[in-house]
Amino acid sequence: MFPIDPDIRKASTLPGEFYTDPRTFDQCRDRVFSRTWQFVGDAERVKAPGQAWPVTLLPGFLDEPLLFTRDHDDRVHCLANVCTHRGNLLVEGPCQARQLRCRYHGRTFHLDGRMQSMPEFEGVDGFPSAADDLPRVPWAAWKRFLFVALDPPESLPAVFRPLDDRVGWLPLEDFCREEATCREYLVRANWALYCDNYLEGFHIPFVHPALNQSLDYGSYTTELFPSCNLQLGIARDGEECFDLPGGHPDAGRRVAAYYFWVFPNLMLNFYPWGLSVNVVRPLEVGLTRVEFLTYLWRPEKRRDAAGLDRVEREDEAVVECVQRGVRSRFYGRGRYSPTREQGVHHFHRLLAGRCAGAGQAARPGS
Ligand code: FES
Ligand SMILES: [Fe+2]
Repeated sequence: MFPIDPDIRKASTLPGEFYTDPRTFDQCRDRVFSRTWQFVGDAERVKAPGQAWPVTLLPGFLDEPLLFTRDHDDRVHCLANVCTHRGNLLVEGPCQARQLRCRYHGRTFHLDGRMQSMPEFEGVDGFPSAADDLPRVPWAAWKRFLFVALDPPESLPAVFRPLDDRVGWLPLEDFCREEATCREYLVRANWALYCDNYLEGFHIPFVHPALNQSLDYGSYTTELFPSCNLQLGIARDGEECFDLPGGHPDAGRRVAAYYFWVFPNLMLNFYPWGLSVNVVRPLEVGLTRVEFLTYLWRPEKRRDAAGLDRVEREDEAVVECVQRGVRSRFYGRGRYSPTREQGVHHFHRLLAGRCAGAGQAARPGS
């Protein structure tokens, strides 16, 4: 138990052991990650009827084998990718199929998960039953992206409403994935330390001198929502900013970036040139994989293509130092800056609420 005071001026941060204790790490898996919407990828992967796309949800952590299909009536399904006979993995790679056939003993399924046939099962009592169909898993789409939740506490549209209000006008369907700049980083730190660092711009002048040249640090603001938050980067004079449509809530501001973080582990960074998606995947208590996906919209507006990678390496280095620091016998808890660390405080409150078993997300300001 590590309560976080709702008043940021009174609150202390998460204790060091939160980031180093394997039991807390396991608790996060069961209470946080298995009960939140998790980014899976591009809906393109099941664009045409007959496509089947196996995915493992958070490999090495939740490690849940799932299967997206689009059936011949053009309906998308998310199914358990495990044969209901003796548990073989059903589909091992992306494929085009009329039906799904288990290669162990030949059980077949329709693309919507219903069992179709099974050899040598004549006379089996009560067979087939609903238990022989592939279990369906809750999924939802936000624009072009697919999400899965093993046990969703709230609907995906409710979580994403603040994004619709601010970046809903962007034609994400027209953005082009740029494979050359998509990459994965292995960070020797707890997943939540990586998020903590993302959730404040406080460190920008100290850790990212080049980025600090293009952002107007004084105008950097944080807005809190029930299950996500937004850091708004304002461009310095002469730097690229969004051409916002008429009537936009930020009309008149020179927005250089919308940094949206969705609880617990997803970052959607919208820039005038496109989108960078960061998915934080816990591996071990002190080891995290971070996936960067790049989507280009207006490439001519991107001045420094290598910039994101440089900023990432600067973040990685400092977060790895913090991981070593929070292990210290002499570190307990810290305090928050009321002006610069509202996002970190928000994250810690959400985590503390979920880990304590509270089903409800902490409300900002409550
Ligand atoms: S495990 Fe699939 S048919 Fe036996
Ligand atoms: Fe940073």
